[in-house]
Amino acid sequence: MNQKTTDLELRTSSEEETFNLAERLARQLAGNELILISGELGAGKTVLVKGLASGLGVVEPEAVCSPSFTLVNIYRGQKDLIHVDLYRLENPEEIADLGLEDYLGTGVVAVEWAERLPADFRTERMIEIAVVVEADETRLIKIRTKNVCLRLDNK
Ligand SMILES: Nc1ncnc2c1ncn2[C@@H]1O[C@H](COP(=O)(O)OP(=O)(O)OP(=O)(O)O)[C@@H](O)[C@H]1O
Ligand SMILES: [Mg+2]
Repeated sequence: MNQKTTDLELRTSSEEETFNLAERLARQLAGNELILISGELGAGKTVLVKGLASGLGVVEPEAVCSPSFTLVNIYRGQKDLIHVDLYRLENPEEIADLGLEDYLGTGVVAVEWAERLPADFRTERMIEIAVVVEADETRLIKIRTKNVCLRLDNK
């Protein structure tokens, strides 16, 4: 497979900056990418997904949340967003039961707690984002793109 991998690192100093970064990112997507998001509790993964929703043209991006009993939420936008949160899933069988592969290609699939996915759950075009808490409001956002071209430097 012809793989083009690019690493980007950005630092944000507020929730709003993280939201805006994800919004800019989403505007550059074709609409069928897989986005794997990892990071500790309260790092800002859901903030990123709200920004993605906004950039994809979801009408109420602020309504994006991680409800207690729903593991997969679909938001309709100019391009659809499939939001998956694996926090509550304990074992690989439960994750397999979600049938996530069926959502691939139907919209942008954004997965919180992507650390829990089996290592072979990958697609040819994808983005991995790790959110690292540096201080109260500072986050290091590490982005690895595979066969996706992004420009995120213009604030
Ligand atoms: N630079 C920042 N970027 C994103 N969020 C920030 C930032 N600084 C502070 N925050 C705060 O961190 C929290 C992030 O919450 P969020 O629900 O997005 O985390 P999460 O990674 O989805 O957590 P969980 O693992 O519980 O799903 C919010 O309260 C937000 O206001
Ligand atoms: Mg969350």
